[in-house]
Amino acid sequence: MMIPREVVEEVRHRTDIVELIGSYVTLKRAGSNFGGLCPFHSEKTPSFTVFPDSQSFYCFGCGAGGDAITFVMKNDNLDYPSAIEVLASRAGIRVVREQEKEKGGLTRSRVHDMNREAAKFFHKCLLDPIGAEGLKYLTEKRGLSMALIKHFGLGFAPGSFNMLTDYMHKKGFTDQELAQGFLCGISQKNGRAYDYFRNRVMFPIIDTAGNVIAFGGRVMDDSKPKYLNSSDTPAFQKRKNLFALNFAKNYSTERLILCEGYMDVISLHAYGFENAVATLGTAITPEQARLMTKYTKQVVICYDADEAGQRAAIKAMEVLGQVGMDVRVLHVTDAKDPDEFLRKFGDARFRRLVEGSRTEFSYKSEKIFAKYSMDIPEERIKASEELCALIALSPSKVEREIYASMVADKLHISAESLKNDVERTRSKKLRAAKQKEGKDASLAARGYGDRVNPDTAKNVQAVAAEEAILGLLMLYPEHRRMITSGTIVLGEDDFFSGLGKRTFARVMQMEAEEGGFDYSLLGEDFSIDEMGRLQSMLQRRRALAENGTAVLRASVETLKQQKQRSDARESGDAVGSIKQLLDAKKKKI
Ligand code: GTP
Ligand code: MN
Repeated sequence: MMIPREVVEEVRHRTDIVELIGSYVTLKRAGSNFGGLCPFHSEKTPSFTVFPDSQSFYCFGCGAGGDAITFVMKNDNLDYPSAIEVLASRAGIRVVREQEKEKGGLTRSRVHDMNREAAKFFHKCLLDPIGAEGLKYLTEKRGLSMALIKHFGLGFAPGSFNMLTDYMHKKGFTDQELAQGFLCGISQKNGRAYDYFRNRVMFPIIDTAGNVIAFGGRVMDDSKPKYLNSSDTPAFQKRKNLFALNFAKNYSTERLILCEGYMDVISLHAYGFENAVATLGTAITPEQARLMTKYTKQVVICYDADEAGQRAAIKAMEVLGQVGMDVRVLHVTDAKDPDEFLRKFGDARFRRLVEGSRTEFSYKSEKIFAKYSMDIPEERIKASEELCALIALSPSKVEREIYASMVADKLHISAESLKNDVERTRSKKLRAAKQKEGKDASLAARGYGDRVNPDTAKNVQAVAAEEAILGLLMLYPEHRRMITSGTIVLGEDDFFSGLGKRTFARVMQMEAEEGGFDYSLLGEDFSIDEMGRLQSMLQRRRALAENGTAVLRASVETLKQQKQRSDARESGDAVGSIKQLLDAKKKKI
């Protein structure tokens, strides 16, 4: 009954939590987040917050919290797999449970053969009268030439329920094989196979060895879901492939351009940028980033201009940065995506954008400069404050100095005084983070009668330390690596509470799996209330920023000490434990 991780990732990528929750709760923008009245407890002033950046929600009033999946579970009263299915069907993703997948004894080469036949079928349909509507859409509406259509092997899936299935039967493929390869579905009612892709233009996805490994199918109007994509098969894993890499790999080693959409890539190739590739409907994965390192050292991220696209671009920067890629970002303006930009402004202007694409720091700093006028002193002050905050985030002093001197001129201040401001900002942040951690601990101190984690009352300090540790581990991959590499020695037994032990074990177990830790996958093993608690552990540690490591080390120390003390008490004399009980009572009064 397991839902595969890829499906969870895809569902999350395709779901905008603000849009989802916004359809149930009236949300108002508050800074970079959204606020509203909590749907899970009655309140008059909003303490319910939706965080678009982390695609999560948290109610500071009642402690409900989680991601899109948790929200649907709680709101619609569903279990984890059902909530995923609800979100998947909203987004046109087919959920295939782990069990069903294992039945598939298809070999890679059989899937390749099957897909090659299907691609031929779709392509032929596009050129036949039956595909007239598809051809019209691609040529007239999207401006593609016949040569380009052939180059990419684009096709058309007719509206019929059995044309492809019949054709494939003649080629010797069985219903079972077709179903396992995601070319057809099997009707629940009569057990018969039916074509999965219908009335869509088809994009074959081809790997670097030239095999057709999957399909994406797009509707020709505004109906939803816009795309249907093949799910993973023995021959195809979304997270390990890139659209058009089969062409791009031969074109240039200087750089690759990474887009979001198939149509963006096709347009880019049409205009001579044959080094463009796209992910396959999911956020970029470490596997895809590593795959790119085989072909180039530089990637220019060119995502859609909307907020979601820009947020995804920042995530992509991180993922690509982690494999050592030289990452640049290109932001198209006056067009919603690279495809529209090219058709509006042409290739010369796009080329200038590529050449001038910026590094992460210049990308972020230019955003700040764009907001303020340098001729107005008040605005200049605002800009320099924001830049200071941005530069202060960088853990390396040398880098901070370089960045400061890069922007000082523009702010009309000396590099020296900007550097001083940056260092002041940084120490202020460090102090604030330490205080915040202290406040959290004192909040936790009042945590008697904790329903979600009943062990809290037994040792508040230990649980507070646990929560800090778990919050940081869930937030930052580098902290998880400190545990796996043994830089910080910490095991399940070091944890004090049952919830702490379970969380740590699950987080680290996932970390060891391919694809790493993912909050959304916790929903399978933790109750909705626990998911809320985990979300709060995580939200509260965001403010620590780069002081996290210090807090992590200190919390591990505290946890180990407290644990020892508690263990000693437990194994010790009865008098001790009675005294402890009395102490707890006293504190309560
Ligand atoms: P156009 O709207 O035709 O320009 O398409 P696009 O290819 O530029 O797509 P868009 O930028 O909207 O989305 C980027 C990619 O996400 C697409 O190429 C698909 O791989 C995927 N995608 C988009 N919409 C859906 C959807 O509704 N369901 C699924 N499963 N994937 C989608
Ligand atoms: Mn597009």
